Amino acid sequence: MQYNVTVIGSGPGGYVAAIRCAQLGFKTALIEKYDTLGGTCLNVGCIPSKALLDSSEHFHNAAHTFKEHGIDINEPKANITQMIKRKAGVVKSNVDGIAYLMKKNKIEVLTGVGSFVDKNTIKITGKDGKESQITTEKVIIATGSKPTPLPFAPFDKKRIISSTEALELKEIPKHLIVIGGGVIGMELGSVYARIGSKVTVVEFLDNLIPTMDGTMGKELTKVAKKLGMELYLGHKVTSVEVKGKEVLVKAEPKAGGNAVDLKGDYCLVSIGRKPYTDGLGLEKVGIELDKGKIPVDDHLKTKVDNIYAIGDVVRGAMLAHKAEEEGVLVAEQLAGQKPHINYNLIPGVVYTWPEVASVGYTEEQLKEQGRAYKTGSFPYKALGRARASMDLDGLVKVLADKATDEILGIHIIGARAADMIAAGVTAMEFRASAEDIARTSHAHPTYMEAVKEACLAATANRSIHM
Ligand code: FAD
Ligand code: NAI
Repeated sequence: MQYNVTVIGSGPGGYVAAIRCAQLGFKTALIEKYDTLGGTCLNVGCIPSKALLDSSEHFHNAAHTFKEHGIDINEPKANITQMIKRKAGVVKSNVDGIAYLMKKNKIEVLTGVGSFVDKNTIKITGKDGKESQITTEKVIIATGSKPTPLPFAPFDKKRIISSTEALELKEIPKHLIVIGGGVIGMELGSVYARIGSKVTVVEFLDNLIPTMDGTMGKELTKVAKKLGMELYLGHKVTSVEVKGKEVLVKAEPKAGGNAVDLKGDYCLVSIGRKPYTDGLGLEKVGIELDKGKIPVDDHLKTKVDNIYAIGDVVRGAMLAHKAEEEGVLVAEQLAGQKPHINYNLIPGVVYTWPEVASVGYTEEQLKEQGRAYKTGSFPYKALGRARASMDLDGLVKVLADKATDEILGIHIIGARAADMIAAGVTAMEFRASAEDIARTSHAHPTYMEAVKEACLAATANRSIHM
């Protein structure tokens, strides 16, 4: 065999798996069909979306909070061409960084579509149609996911767009209609709402970001409305039609009532993503999909003994850090180690401002499990740090076991929640009680004091500053 391990797909699952395999001494190849490495996350996902979120936040602050801070400037103008250009530069430096890491770790990068010939032979087809083959002992499939279209309105990529096109617009939409009030809808919706678009979100369920704790969606609804977003929750989209430069969207309230007619210039469809396996030739090795995903066991092994699958293409949250953990887990298993992932402690973050970040069980899940729990909450507006920075929106909610006080979930909406949640994950990995955090010294003034106060509230209803 030419390689010990071949990884197909260079997203955060694939490239991290490849690096860990190389570190453990395996001769490793990485196959990627695009010219740049990094997959969805680096090219059209996490990184470019955060670059635009950051630019739009600066713009929003310049327009709305600088004056209060005592900074007088002329009315700022949003320059979308420059924002997109800066975003492209950020993406380039990140994908170049991955290419450097491949060289550093002596990983052979093969460009082209990888497909199975048999369980130990992979064919690579380049853009020019040229084919080559390699042999390998083990294979790790990390082919990721693609946006899901509406069944009755496929992406035309001009007016009916996915996140990929929404990261590349040449003009600021006058009216952006967003279908799906989940993570992408709220992140990219807020980018354009901040820089001047009218943004309307149509969400099928009764709350925004519905997979997170219900309190988070309710708070985010208030924030989105403050930003001027128009929200139609509990609405089912019945048609999407493009007429010239216009998109017409019809939606009906699920509970009955008057239908809504919306007219915009762009329609972002963000109703979830689906695993991507096109062209992989899974039939050649006898792997059948289960609801579109590659079935794997607890060790991320497929039904074929030497083939593993990780990341968005398998069950579980479609998150970059989940894919990375799985890449490391498979590599270490191949080296005979016994790694472990606690899926319940994979944090989830929405990079709106304020950010939303969660780990562990939601209150809805605990109710469903019939588990006895207690809650403690603390609002940002009672924090000195939040008053100083004018970031008063949001709260921390802690859920703890009623009998043992063990923390079962931490849910934060507020400034810098994305970075704060790591402390919650660590505490929960060590099975901390709410009292453990409540009795830990937290630097003053910080946003993290809200977590301590929420834990004090959960422990004995004794938060100090409320
Ligand atoms: P991918 O990153 O999708 O990579 C798969 C790679 O495989 C691709 O490069 C593809 O070209 C390649 N490939 C597919 N088939 C073949 C083949 N046959 N041969 C060769 N190559 C192939 N997650 C977060 O955790 N945080 C965020 O902030 C975040 N923001 C996001 C924002 C947006 C707009 C989107 C769309 C997603 C975001 N995500 C975020 C999700 C995150 O991008 C994915 O969970 C992550 O990229 C999954 O990693 P992966 O390695 O499984 O697959
Ligand atoms: P999502 O699952 O977060 O949200 C989709 C939303 O669309 C849900 O609220 C759902 O109820 C709604 N929906 C589904 N069908 C609908 C319909 N026909 N009409 C109206 N609403 C409908 O999916 P999204 O936002 O597309 O993101 C895809 C994936 O990418 C997510 O699973 C997420 O994990 C990942 N991602 C992660 C980010 C992060 O970690 N910050 C950022 C962006 C994406």
